[in-house]
Amino acid sequence: MKFAVEATGVTVIYEEGTKALVNVDFNVEEGQFVALFASNGAGKSTLIKAITGLLKPQAGTVRIAGKELASMDPKELYSTVGVTFQNPDDQLFAATVEEDVAFGPRNLGLGEAEVARRVEEALTDVEAIHLRKKAIHHLSFGEKKRVVLAGILAMRPSILVLDEPTAGLDPAGEAAVMLLLSNLNRLKGLTIILATHSVDMLPLLAHSICVLSHGQVVQRGTAEEIFTESGILEQVGLRLPYVTTLLHQMKAFDGLPVNDLPLTIYQARIRFLELIPQDILAKPNGAPNA
Ligand SMILES: Nc1ncnc2c1ncn2[C@@H]1O[C@H](COP(=O)(O)OP(=O)(O)OP(=O)(O)O)[C@@H](O)[C@H]1O
Ligand SMILES: [Mg+2]
Repeated sequence: MKFAVEATGVTVIYEEGTKALVNVDFNVEEGQFVALFASNGAGKSTLIKAITGLLKPQAGTVRIAGKELASMDPKELYSTVGVTFQNPDDQLFAATVEEDVAFGPRNLGLGEAEVARRVEEALTDVEAIHLRKKAIHHLSFGEKKRVVLAGILAMRPSILVLDEPTAGLDPAGEAAVMLLLSNLNRLKGLTIILATHSVDMLPLLAHSICVLSHGQVVQRGTAEEIFTESGILEQVGLRLPYVTTLLHQMKAFDGLPVNDLPLTIYQARIRFLELIPQDILAKPNGAPNA
């Protein structure tokens, strides 16, 4: 088993004394899609900074693709790991969109033709090609998030670490970014680590979910394992997917005979179809599409 990220015993204490991470172990296998799922202030951004070399932990070690992070030079690190920050304004500095996206590949020493190819492909992937000539300071928040992601993709890293990449995007933008990330993971084998509150999307995408609270890992498992009951999640300020909550309540209050609770609309639909009397399904107007 090869690890893209191996963080062991990571402790981060900020200057004024906040213990943001306490002895955190966080391993991610190559090719996995892993979500950091936690409430505000739990330590997601701090963990992202610690595993991408943006801050140095007081204790613990981080290895990236088998190499000690501390021994990697910035060029090697950032062509392996692409990181997007929570706030896109912290990461955009060129005058125009295409200049910004070109910055990373140019810094890798690539020729202008290859840089142009990568800029075009990355902006197309994030559905922002129409913005290529725009001034950065004219972009909307959601557009900035997509441009930052394009800048990272243009570096062609094998590991993407994304701090709330869909926060502030509209539903179509959120779905498009999540689909893009899923495709990069499934089709191109990129390892993806993302901090998110988009709980309803997680069962569709994440192989593994890591729940943080007060700087510690409190749960790690598949969506099926994490979303079996709301108790622990509620204690740390999180919730189940809405569709799971609905079926949970219908089971508890209405006696709906379901055992394993669905995590996605697709799974819920299958359960309902199993429960609906066949004669109702047989009626032409009542029959849902297959
Ligand atoms: N530069 C800093 N100096 C001092 N304390 C900090 C600093 N950055 C973060 N913290 C504190 O560390 C803790 C973890 O913050 P972090 O930003 O990692 O949380 P988060 O899970 O990303 O939260 P959010 O969902 O709000 O983005 C918080 O208590 C926060 O106040
Ligand atoms: Mg954060």
